[in-house]
Amino acid sequence: MNDKNTLTITQPDDWHVHVRDGDMLAGVVNFTARQFGRAIIMPNLAPPITNAQAAREYRVRILAAVDNQHDFTPLMTCYLTDNIDPGEIETGFADGVFTACKLYPAGATTNSDHGVTDIGKIANVLETMQRIGMPLLVHGEVTDGDIDIFDREAVFIDRIMSKITRDFPALKIVFEHITTKQAVAFVQESGTNIAATITPHHLVYNRSAMFEGGIRPHLYCLPIAKREVHRLALRTAATSGSAKFFLGTDSAPHSVGAKQSACGCAGVFNAPFALESYAATFEQENALDKLEGFASIYGPRFYGLEPNKRKIVLERTEIEIPKTLDITDTQIIPFHSGERLNWRFVGLV
Ligand code: DOR
Ligand code: ZN
Repeated sequence: MNDKNTLTITQPDDWHVHVRDGDMLAGVVNFTARQFGRAIIMPNLAPPITNAQAAREYRVRILAAVDNQHDFTPLMTCYLTDNIDPGEIETGFADGVFTACKLYPAGATTNSDHGVTDIGKIANVLETMQRIGMPLLVHGEVTDGDIDIFDREAVFIDRIMSKITRDFPALKIVFEHITTKQAVAFVQESGTNIAATITPHHLVYNRSAMFEGGIRPHLYCLPIAKREVHRLALRTAATSGSAKFFLGTDSAPHSVGAKQSACGCAGVFNAPFALESYAATFEQENALDKLEGFASIYGPRFYGLEPNKRKIVLERTEIEIPKTLDITDTQIIPFHSGERLNWRFVGLV
């Protein structure tokens, strides 16, 4: 039933999330598993997940950390390196271990040091992926020190993304956590094999918010938030009803100490209230009727999967987001810390 105060939609999936490992995994994964049916699990552990056996073992650890009450499927990804073996990827995909491969340009973000230094080095891998229909998930930022941090995504499109799409025209690509109007335009103008995920936080704040009244380390993530014009382009894209844009939270927990430091880590922990945040944005854009497509339909369609059978309910009730969350032996500051939101995730129906 959908009336003014209740929203019942197909259960969403999260097409990009970091659930970490060890104690942190146990502390954070159920925030994702309670809202989402499936999630694409990022492989940037230390060391990264670069072979099928490591992915199998990581999947077992994730499932062991998920509460029994949740029916949750982690979809595993392979971290691409300069020397990655295309045979390993092909077998891992055929065996249902890997759903996709993740391209981190070396040095672009957290635990990306083993990433790809030159796209030419993985041409054989991209060729294989194109042939077998395996999606490539792209962290789209150049890492050159002479490129301003706010320009790194746009320059990546010109220098790298355009080359990949030219050389591998049938490769399925998710341009992840897009942050610019250039990325929106690139995806819109590309074929149906190119899509993008959009995070809740890039829909909510722009780069000025990171410095409002002082430096706000909990809003720092990569790709970094851009100017307001870009945020508005993202909001238009997400709420447009275009199947090329779908949900990927990029929830990336770091302990409060790792964030509030002289060299703070990048990442926003948005998993605990992810759907509430997206719902608020869609409502502000008068587009609540477009939320289900974005959150629950277009992602599976891109990946060639069925939408979830279950439904979830959101109700219009003001909630207050906790200032901090105790996660195992540490504290993490959630996205929207201390704020009020107008929608509450009730649960599955
Ligand atoms: O902000 C980010 N945090 N961006 C990334 O690409 C990685 C992530 C993390 O793993 O912390
Ligand atoms: Zn990420």
